[in-house]
Amino acid sequence: MKRNILITGGAGFIGSHVVRLFVNKYHDYQIVNLDKLTYAGNLANLKDVENSGNYTFVRADIADLDDMRRIISQYKIDGIIHLAAESHVDRSIKDPFTFARTNVMGTLALLQAAKEYWESLPEKYDGKLFYHISTDEVYGALELTHPEGVAAPFTTKASSADDMAYGTEFFVETTKYNPHSPYSASKASSDHFVRAYHDTYGMPTLVTNCSNNYGPYQFPEKLIPLFINNIRHNKPLPVYGKGENVRDWLFVEDHARAIDLIFHKGNVAETYNIGGFNEWKNIDLIRVIISTVDRLLGNPAGHSERLITYVTDRLGHDMRYAIDSRKLQSELGWEPSLQFEEGIEKTVRWYLDNQEWLDNVTSGDYQHYYDDMYTAR
Ligand code: NAD
Ligand code: DAU
Repeated sequence: MKRNILITGGAGFIGSHVVRLFVNKYHDYQIVNLDKLTYAGNLANLKDVENSGNYTFVRADIADLDDMRRIISQYKIDGIIHLAAESHVDRSIKDPFTFARTNVMGTLALLQAAKEYWESLPEKYDGKLFYHISTDEVYGALELTHPEGVAAPFTTKASSADDMAYGTEFFVETTKYNPHSPYSASKASSDHFVRAYHDTYGMPTLVTNCSNNYGPYQFPEKLIPLFINNIRHNKPLPVYGKGENVRDWLFVEDHARAIDLIFHKGNVAETYNIGGFNEWKNIDLIRVIISTVDRLLGNPAGHSERLITYVTDRLGHDMRYAIDSRKLQSELGWEPSLQFEEGIEKTVRWYLDNQEWLDNVTSGDYQHYYDDMYTAR
């Protein structure tokens, strides 16, 4: 079936994987990638699909309501996958207003423009979908009740070798929202607006909340690519606090596959949590990154451990995130495709093989953004 799909934030990390998957898989679809190209957006992420006949790039700001109206009607958009956002917690601590503008007002402008266009059509909302991509951070933080780890209650292919969980509680779709950072507060607010457009106007919307993603094309201010890049340059590895915080990691292509499945098979007005039951304490993950990079660079084992530098903690640093994705697994049959060990090896190799990409995105002003925030203790 022919469709015109708008993917916002398609030049970013996750968005570029979603665009690539849709362009390569759905030749009958016209894929319009709408992105403002902030510091985090990079068209080099999409070199391999940029000349495809079913792909168009439009540079625009989601917070510009008139532009959203024009673009949605010009391309006769009948489905939206909304990923555009300011996405880095540390930046939100420095500059919360930019997060409110893009994540809240931008999402609202996009919703409103879609609503007006779809309501103007004779078939109104038939077959339309506004799919909003959100995060597990809206649920707040879980306690670290088992600092040494306990056997994980659920297992999937993505589980770590030791198959550990660091607490007995998990985020489920009905967990009450309790965001702590300006980033998560802005994402929570946008989630509420999306659901409000369904409940008030009957707009077909859907929200998913995913755990931490990792993989190729992630901007190297986030933990995994930052540390790979710093090891490469023999630079300190800034571990916030004691390195005991726990994150639940999912390979980005598995998130993109989940988005594809949910976009086509998910139920309108539903929420699905996405995650691979793959919890890692930061410091343990950092040691895996170090040993993988050292091995692939031919350094002696443990060579880069000396770069570990404990720094002041992130303000309001959430202790533990852990997603329960059993609803998505049982209702739609999704499961992660990769073991974590495989995913991290693939990821490290990609950054080491794409040093030009890393050098290009890390040149310029971005380098000094956090100078006044994290200092060695
Ligand atoms: P990213 O920062 O890598 O990419 C964001 C993209 O949005 C960039 O291309 C940027 O240019 C674009 N953008 C920013 N402001 C814009 C605006 N005003 N108008 C148009 N485009 C704009 O982010 P990401 O990590 O790929 O995350 C994508 C989405 O997934 C976000 O909504 C984020 O909240 C969510 N999410 C991310 C993760 C993760 O681990 N990275 C996990 C769960 C959910
Ligand atoms: O959980 C999903 C979220 O994951 C997404 O919604 C966000 O967009 C995404 O950025 C990510 O947020 P985190 O804050 O968890 O990711 P980050 O890579 O910034 O940090 C991961 C952990 O590592 C976190 O506990 C903070 C810590 N950290 C991070 C950096 C950048 C360090 O110790 N040192 C660092 O230099």
